[in-house]
Amino acid sequence: MKAIEIKPNIYWVGAVDWTVRDFHGYVTPRGTTYNNYLITDEQITLIDTVKQDFSQVTIDNIRSLVDPSRIVNVVINHIEPDHSSSIEKIMALAPDANIYITDKGKKGLDRHFNTSKWEFKIIKTGDILNIGKYNLLFLETPMLHWPDSMMTYVKEAKLLISQDAFGQHIATSARFDDEFIECASRAELKDAVIDYYANILMPFGQLIKTKIAEIKKLDLEIDMIAPDHGVIWRKNPGDILQRYLDMANGKASLSITVIYDTMWHSTELMILPIMQGIKDEGVGCKVIKLRATPMSVAIKEFWKSRGCLVGSPTLNNLLFPTVAEFLTHLRGLRPKNRIIGAFGSYGWGGGAVKEAYEEFKKMKLEPFEPGLQVMYKPSLEDETRCYEFGREFAKKTKDYHVKFLE
Ligand code: FEO
Repeated sequence: MKAIEIKPNIYWVGAVDWTVRDFHGYVTPRGTTYNNYLITDEQITLIDTVKQDFSQVTIDNIRSLVDPSRIVNVVINHIEPDHSSSIEKIMALAPDANIYITDKGKKGLDRHFNTSKWEFKIIKTGDILNIGKYNLLFLETPMLHWPDSMMTYVKEAKLLISQDAFGQHIATSARFDDEFIECASRAELKDAVIDYYANILMPFGQLIKTKIAEIKKLDLEIDMIAPDHGVIWRKNPGDILQRYLDMANGKASLSITVIYDTMWHSTELMILPIMQGIKDEGVGCKVIKLRATPMSVAIKEFWKSRGCLVGSPTLNNLLFPTVAEFLTHLRGLRPKNRIIGAFGSYGWGGGAVKEAYEEFKKMKLEPFEPGLQVMYKPSLEDETRCYEFGREFAKKTKDYHVKFLE
């Protein structure tokens, strides 16, 4: 895609990655984009680079506007390789450019590249760089989502360049939210936002709230938010800020996701009566089989619902490996504000359900106890127990959900 002017003399010069389906282990069925921005002010300023596979794409986009050797400033908002790994090529073309970066960002770049010949300017929150008509205000956002992370606010353009925050993994010819909604749908964009938040930003809800409050306190006028992935928010940027606040505050739908795996279908057979119990209590329910679903999709579906039931057969007195993997992954994301329970079949000693609750305890999620175990295969009597288990879990989920209603 060619460079696009998003504000006067501010251009998107990034790359669309139509084919990536595995983004460091995270499934990206829609592909992604690596967004970076060039400001052709008195001092030509590049904000972020792109993944190194696409170096030539961004260099060509820059060259369509200016000779890259004229770049005076390179701002690195975030050093993860999908945004910084073209830096060597950029600096080879503009060796005298100053790199504006946080202290932790510089330390990270030093570990990845030979930076000895590069000129760095270490910035802190509140520092302002005048590049001509525009002033750039830097805002550190440590641990959103790396220690080095920061954002750049272009004051006179009312533009917040937000690095990973507010992004989505979408490859599209649409550069803006309203264009994407026009050619795809609002629902697809919403799903991509949730997917991104659940898999990348879920651990940082409290930090997100603090940072958004800080931005509001600074009274910055924002009429466009340009993240480093996906579409740029220009229609109503306040919406995406509010959506992030809602997610950080634990917003979820009153629904239940059942996430499970099975060996000889016994755990699977428990699900139908459990679902019927949930449905008869008036709560929606979705079922995810782990061996048939990418991990990042299971995480997204977990995050959408207020309640989750985890089903696992016992294997060698432990959780079934795919379920253990899911719970380990989930624990790393530090989920909050969800109620969770476990069920499963066993042959003799059992152990999976007990281990699942130990994991829930580590995560400090609201546990629904006791869990439900069935020996070998559910009998008619067991099916009734499953139905009651589902029904009771749905009741508790409704009660728990009330806490989050305004
Ligand atoms: Fe898109 Fe944290 O990198």
